Amino acid sequence: MKLLWAVTALLLSCWRADAFTAPHIRTEPSEVTNQTSAVLSCNLTDASIVSKGSHWTLNGKIIDNSKKDDDKHYTTLNLEKITHANSGKYECVFSTDPEVKQTIEVRTTPHVAAYKHSEHGNENDKVVLVCVSHGYPLPTDWLWFKQNDDGTQDSITNGTVKYEIKNTPNKTSLTINDLNIDSDLGHYICSGSNDLGVATDKVNLRVRSRLAALWPFLGIVAEVIILVTIIFIYEKRRKPDEVNDGMYAMSPTPPITSLFSSYQNCN
Ligand SMILES: *[C@@H]1O[C@H](CO)[C@@H](O)[C@H](O)[C@H]1NC(C)=O
Ligand SMILES: *[C@@H]1O[C@H](CO)[C@@H](O)[C@H](O)[C@H]1NC(C)=O
Ligand SMILES: *[C@@H]1O[C@H](CO)[C@@H](O)[C@H](O)[C@H]1NC(C)=O
Ligand SMILES: *[C@@H]1O[C@H](CO)[C@@H](O)[C@H](O)[C@H]1NC(C)=O
Repeated sequence: MKLLWAVTALLLSCWRADAFTAPHIRTEPSEVTNQTSAVLSCNLTDASIVSKGSHWTLNGKIIDNSKKDDDKHYTTLNLEKITHANSGKYECVFSTDPEVKQTIEVRTTPHVAAYKHSEHGNENDKVVLVCVSHGYPLPTDWLWFKQNDDGTQDSITNGTVKYEIKNTPNKTSLTINDLNIDSDLGHYICSGSNDLGVATDKVNLRVRSRLAALWPFLGIVAEVIILVTIIFIYEKRRKPDEVNDGMYAMSPTPPITSLFSSYQNCN
């Protein structure tokens, strides 16, 4: 008996919710697909309902200047230029009691951008290349390619020792392991597609040799050695009594100032 009540109540509530939303607002068009501009309109067809105003939202955020305080049952929104940046779920909202609203989806081809267009990694290390997507709908498929010198592209397969691809709707990342200085440098292409089309972007990867990665460190070591030498010689010169016969007398060390200037000439 309790169950019967629950089911009846559930059915009633569904029926009530249904009666309050969908049939009241007619949208024109019902959705916008792959267009460069559009005028969205909503018609609150039930003349007996009182509306104190209306506004539009995009992905749940109120659109500036879309708020109207009139009692009209009709509202439009002019989209002069549609790009990935203003695609999404639009909603017209009428200030009735309770509030009624209806969604119009504005769909575009995806927009894909490399997080960094130029990346570098060290030989034998790994590197992660990233592309992101904005707009609506987000890509349902992501692919990566490597561009060859002759312009052709090789598809990159996930899950090998060399490559690992990780995808979310708005982001794809390609990890390249054990970088090879000859075969791994070049252009990588990420490609995101939804049911309206495909968009791509490119990342240029440079691979530095292990030695090149060491140069800054070697430079610091060299500088330290030079400085220590200078200090050592300077200290020796300050205590001439400690200089014993023979070698030092025959080849006198140059004055400290000339040592510094010759060091600067090296740089
Ligand atoms: C809104 O819908 C009503 C009822 O269907 C219709 O009479 C009216 O002309 C429509 N208004 C506009 C501006 O389309
Ligand atoms: C790629 O493979 C890894 C491990 O094999 C897995 O975790 C990941 O989900 C795969 N990515 C895709 C896009 O299939
Ligand atoms: C991607 O989506 C996640 C969750 O959906 C969100 O937290 C993140 O900020 C989004 N990233 C970008 C770049 O839009
Ligand atoms: C959407 O438009 C682009 C060019 O603007 C076109 O390449 C693509 O095929 C279109 N997609 C659909 C589903 O009409």
